[in-house]
Parts: sequence; C-alpha cells; structure tokens
Amino acid sequence: MHMKKILLIGNGAREHCIAETLKRSPQVCELFVYGKAVNPGIKSLAGDYKLGALNDLPAILEFAQMVRPDFAVIGPEDPLADGVADALLGVGVPSVGPVKTLARLESSKSFTRDLLTKYSITGNPKYRTFTDGKGLRDFLVELGDYVVKADGLMGGKGVKLSGEHLHSVDEGVSYALECISLHGHVVIEEKFVGEEFSLMSFCDGFTVVDMPAVQDHKRAFAGDTGPNTGGMGTYSNAGGSLPFLTASDLAEAHAINQSVCDALFKETGERFKGIMYGGFIATAKGVRLIEYNARFGDPECMNVLPILKTDFIAICEAIIEGTLGGAGGGGADGGLSIEFEDLASVVKYVCPEGYPENPVKNVKVEVGEMPSGSGGLAGVRVYFASIDAREDATGESGLYMLGSRAIAVTGIAKTLAEAERLAEAGAKQISGPVFFRSDIGTAELIGKRVLHMKELRGA
Ligand code: GLY
Repeated sequence: MHMKKILLIGNGAREHCIAETLKRSPQVCELFVYGKAVNPGIKSLAGDYKLGALNDLPAILEFAQMVRPDFAVIGPEDPLADGVADALLGVGVPSVGPVKTLARLESSKSFTRDLLTKYSITGNPKYRTFTDGKGLRDFLVELGDYVVKADGLMGGKGVKLSGEHLHSVDEGVSYALECISLHGHVVIEEKFVGEEFSLMSFCDGFTVVDMPAVQDHKRAFAGDTGPNTGGMGTYSNAGGSLPFLTASDLAEAHAINQSVCDALFKETGERFKGIMYGGFIATAKGVRLIEYNARFGDPECMNVLPILKTDFIAICEAIIEGTLGGAGGGGADGGLSIEFEDLASVVKYVCPEGYPENPVKNVKVEVGEMPSGSGGLAGVRVYFASIDAREDATGESGLYMLGSRAIAVTGIAKTLAEAERLAEAGAKQISGPVFFRSDIGTAELIGKRVLHMKELRGA
C-alpha cells in the first residue's frame, strides 16, 4: 500500500496536535514539517523537519518539490493569507487550507462583512468601513457601544471594544485612525452582548461538517481581566454543545457556516477547502457573527482533534476532493460520516511570565510527570507551542520559551469537572517562570456564563 506523504506547515501547539492526529490515522503516513522553530513534539513524529520563515514562499516550494507530498496541511493564518496554498497547488500539491482569495475570510474583516451583506446571510452587526476620519466620530456616537477592528492579521490582538479596551469616543477615534494608518482602512461595528463560542467546520467547498463547539478565553488573567491574548484556554463538552447554548444556537451557527461556504463560491468561483472557523456570539436575539478564521483555532484545535474518532487523513482527502458530503459534492452518495468521542475537554495554555506585553524569552521550562486519566482517550495531553528545543552553551539540551504561549495542556474526561481537574493538574507540572489561568473550565466560571445567558434570554 502507498505510504502517504503529508507536508505540515507550522510549528505551534495547533500543528503539534494536527501532527498527532494525522499519525493516529489507521493509514500509515510519513510526515514532513516546515516550521520556524523546532517543536519537540512535532519533531518526534516527523520524518524530515525543515526550518525556515513561514513567509518564505520559495523555501516552502523548494521543500515541497523535494518531498513531493500527497497533500499539505497549512496550520497558521499568515501563510494562508500570503497564498501558500496557491503556490503549492501550482506545483501539484493540494492543501487543507484555502487559497489566498478565500483566506480573506480571515485576513480581511471588511471582505467578510460585505460578503454576508451581499448574500443576505444573517449574523452581521451594524458596521461601516472607513478609509479616513470623515464621519468616524458620528458613527461611534450613533452606535454607543462599539468595536474597532484593525482590517488585517493581528494575532487576535487587533480588535478593541468600547467599555473594555477603549473608554471614550476620543479613544475609539484615536485607535481607529491608528488602524487606518496601518492598513488603509478600519471596520467599526456595533458591539454585541452575549456569550462567545467557536464553531469550526471541516469544509470542502460544498459541505460543512461541524466539530464540537468550544469557548475560548482571550484575556490574559483570571476573571477575564488583563490584555487580549491569542487565547489562554478553552473548553468543550460531551455531546458537542456548550452549557449556555441551545440546539437552535448551534443550528443557526451551522447555517451561517454553510451559507458562507456557498457564498464564497458564488463570489470567487473557488471552493473553500480547509477549516471554516466561525467566531460567534449567542445573544438575546439569536446568534451573531463576530469574525471568521480560515484555519483551526488555537487552542480550540487541542479540544476537538484529540477526540476525533474518524480517520483524519480520510477527512483531509475528502476536503481536498470535495467529497465530504458524497461524490461530486453536496451529498450525492452519503459522504464521510465524521464522529467525535462523547467526551469533555479543557485546555490551559501555560505562558511565559509577562506574556503578552513583556514576556520573558529564551528561558528554560521543564515538563514534569502528567496525571493519568480513567482510560481510553481520557487523560492529559501536552502540546508544545512557542518552544524551541535546543542545546545551551554547555551542550545541555532543553526546552526554551520563545515569548508567546508556550505549552498547551489538554484534560479529557467524561465530565467537564474531571477534564478541568486534569488540565489544571497537568499545567501545574510545568515549571519555570510561567503562568496560566486556573479559572478556565471551572464550574464557577461556566456557571457565570450560563447565568449570563439566562438573564439575557429572560429565562
Ligand atoms: N482561539 C483564537 C484563534 O485561534 O484565533
């Protein structure tokens, strides 16, 4: 049997988890990795590991042409926005990850808002795009509570909300002008009140198949305080929903993902092949769209892939071939049945002290013994992120933090309470100048989310 060759681009915890899930497939595969640092977890799974900048297209192409993989999986958003999927396709390598024109779903906030408007898809707020300061102040005053979105890739840190990061109309105007000088334009939106959730769907350009819903925590410190980060931790529940969501919330979010998949094809003539990640908010009036990402969420990936039952390589191939819903797209012969274990998960990101604003860098961390779970998939998984495995001047090897989120610890169990206990105990086993959020996944925090939604729904 043909041993599949897979090229993985990226070297974070998300890509470590993708690598692990590819290797867990019943199909044997050889993994080739292109990343900007040596992730020890990925390295232990890979055949060949090439170091290079993620925006160095010629270097990526040279590696791909040497390896000649069956397909590539592109993890992070920057290479997608730079057109790595297009370049690989040009040398005959298809990708799980959309081409550049479709990656605008994430890289351009205005493209996505305008797409929803043009194709009458529900979920948009009141919004306007500005290229200069004319009318900006009046629109902020009209909205009352507002959101200012830098219109480019900012690692989750370009969105600022009134009442949280911006405390007056003047501050809103000033940040919006800063965004205009950086990107040429800025998107200003109405601010929604509710509870956020991520719904990621496998998408082949015809069909979207949802993964379990996840809730992320963007603020650095316990109690949702401190600066915005790439995401400090996440949880998902058995059954695929979240304790504060209704079945109709999930159905609305799914319908938006499917409509966007269809609209993208009508708008561009290209099929979106990859992960469509809707960042939604459940409000008193239904589900609204905050933003789209065109890849697996980080940390959300580490909640869902470890409990994926279906062969991930088969899913990747169906995404590329357009057969998720059956031959020829759209479910002609039933398609692939994608299943997840009925388990809860909690991810806690262990970060260097000072993250995100002034992190310690090039400092060593040690990973101690992890607690064990109750069997099967239940237990603790450790995913390396902004870590470089290298030797110091004396020749001693170690794990060095590079400055961003360092190590993700996932707890998996039948209940959220047990998954949280495992993730917390696992995160405590990582020693060095680090911190993490102990409150993520706790009954107390989730209880607050449930109460908030009950109050909003008037139930
Ligand atoms: N969890 C946030 C992100 O992946 O962008």
